[in-house]
Amino acid sequence: MADVIVRVTSTDPRSPLARLVTLPLGLDVWELTQDEAVLQADEAQAARLEAMGYGVEQLQTSESYVADFDTARTAAGYHSAGSLEQELRHLADDHPEIAQLQRIGRSIEGRPILALRIGERRRSARRVAFLGCHHAREWISVEVPFLLAKDLLADASTAPVRDWLQQGEVWVVPMVNPDGHEHTRTPGNRLWRKNRRRNRDGTIGVDLNRNYGYMWGTLDVTTSSHTPADDTYVGPRAFSEPESRAVRDLVARQLFGGVLTYHSYSQLILYPWGYTSGPIPDEADRREMRDLADDMQRLIAGVHGETYTAQQSSQLYPTAGDTTDWTYGEYDVPSFTVELRPASVLAGGFILPSDQIQPCWEENRPAAHAFIRHVLEKPER
Ligand code: ARG
Ligand code: ZN
Repeated sequence: MADVIVRVTSTDPRSPLARLVTLPLGLDVWELTQDEAVLQADEAQAARLEAMGYGVEQLQTSESYVADFDTARTAAGYHSAGSLEQELRHLADDHPEIAQLQRIGRSIEGRPILALRIGERRRSARRVAFLGCHHAREWISVEVPFLLAKDLLADASTAPVRDWLQQGEVWVVPMVNPDGHEHTRTPGNRLWRKNRRRNRDGTIGVDLNRNYGYMWGTLDVTTSSHTPADDTYVGPRAFSEPESRAVRDLVARQLFGGVLTYHSYSQLILYPWGYTSGPIPDEADRREMRDLADDMQRLIAGVHGETYTAQQSSQLYPTAGDTTDWTYGEYDVPSFTVELRPASVLAGGFILPSDQIQPCWEENRPAAHAFIRHVLEKPER
């Protein structure tokens, strides 16, 4: 059955959009605000939404969306798993005193999951982590942490980067999901999201950003699903996947003082919780993350004028088992999900023209630096 991209609106206050995502409908939700959702569905699902009383406007078939946006101009300039490995290796080779490439695990299909450690390696070091590409189709989420690493190494001998690398370490894992990413580079698969696990029912893929072990599996909704075929399938148990285990084990070894994970799209800065609409109970933590998110919003806007909205994750939609709920819930450290460019599906959605990699990185640079500074300079608890 054909997949379509639709805009869903609610005119009936008895069936608000917020309720739509709490139903186990297996939808692939791309955007969600008070008044409308943009999502990918098959035609039967779209018809069901209409029957439920929602307004359903077809924007495009998924096929024509990819055909329109996925041009040579958009594809050029993005890494593959292989070209990323090569460039990370070069960065490490060119800066042997302060950079080191580590394999932190292997994917389902056996690809290395790579982390670049940057810093002078003192025993007292504070550490901060940047992650990318839990979701295969979110190509820009590889490039921003990669460019962060490259830029830190280029600036390593001048303040303030020099001081950061003396005080602490920055760890960058630009591609948590190399199998999924490779899959999106094959014809017809540009919009794949999950990893490439063969599930027990024969369907493929677990959503790696639902597979972490804090409050894992406590929701069964369209944005956090227990149905293996769904795009947000949480997996059979917490940390069932080698990719999420690689991150788990890295965090357990390095005890990062903060974690920031890049996704796309929508231009948002999200902080826990995702699993509940309730705020995190610790008031000091809440203020710390809110203030930092507001700072990052201002810093990003200051570069090219783009708005990245700071909000609690669950205000976007509910999810259980995402990365930041786990890093905050388990380790009590400031944790953010940054949804990168663009703002909407009309501007390309998951398919961001490659001439926007550079400006997207530029606007995220001061926010990433503020996060590094915050984590490395935070007084010992
Ligand atoms: N777009 C990301 C995802 O679906 C964001 C998750 C952040 N958590 C949340 N509850 N919205 O994985
Ligand atoms: Zn994502």
